[in-house]
Amino acid sequence: MTQQAGKLITVEGIEGVGKTTNLRFMVEWMHNHSQPVLATREPGGTPLADDIRHFLLADHNEIICPDAELLLMFAARAQHLARVILPALHSGKWVICDRFTDASYAYQGAGRGLPMSKIATLETLVQGELRPDLTILLDAPLEVALERIKQRGKLDRFESEEISFFERVRNNYLERASREPHRFRVVSTHQNEEIVQSKIVAILEEFVAVHAN
Ligand code: TMP
Repeated sequence: MTQQAGKLITVEGIEGVGKTTNLRFMVEWMHNHSQPVLATREPGGTPLADDIRHFLLADHNEIICPDAELLLMFAARAQHLARVILPALHSGKWVICDRFTDASYAYQGAGRGLPMSKIATLETLVQGELRPDLTILLDAPLEVALERIKQRGKLDRFESEEISFFERVRNNYLERASREPHRFRVVSTHQNEEIVQSKIVAILEEFVAVHAN
């Protein structure tokens, strides 16, 4: 894959950590600072990838085996990269993506128990050298996040998983963050919203200052 001009910012975290609110805040911050930004999400981001998302989140009579789940995540990602992410990066935009391949390591790797090497193989196959430039990991204690999930209406196929699944996912995210401190910024969302947002602003300001063209 060729060198991109824009930068890829991904936002990760388990369900119930406040991803939606904080993502909206990040995109508004970019707009308010006249930064060209494209906001997107995974799985999804194109009509075809959104169909795959719908399929992945829905309940089925047949159990989806972990390999099929992983391949569908990467099929959606390949389409999303080709149609949306790479063109936006090449045109010099900041791309803010709600989840990316760290989610495959956390959910399909740690959550479902697939070997990380399988995920790494698909990562290289689908992305080549492309990796996020910045990953903001939103984190909250498990009980707090799960309580927020419970307050949602109908739960999707992932939200219906047991507590130990989310514990494995969260621990994997935190481990990945500690292994790659140059890329990850961990923000605890178990605090006042203004404090969370001030931390996010500090991260974005520093990142934009270093990377703006
Ligand atoms: P969202 O509802 O937070 O946007 O994410 C949809 C679900 O998809 C969420 O439970 C996490 C899961 N997911 C994976 O399992 N693997 C992946 O690679 C991605 C991107 C998401």
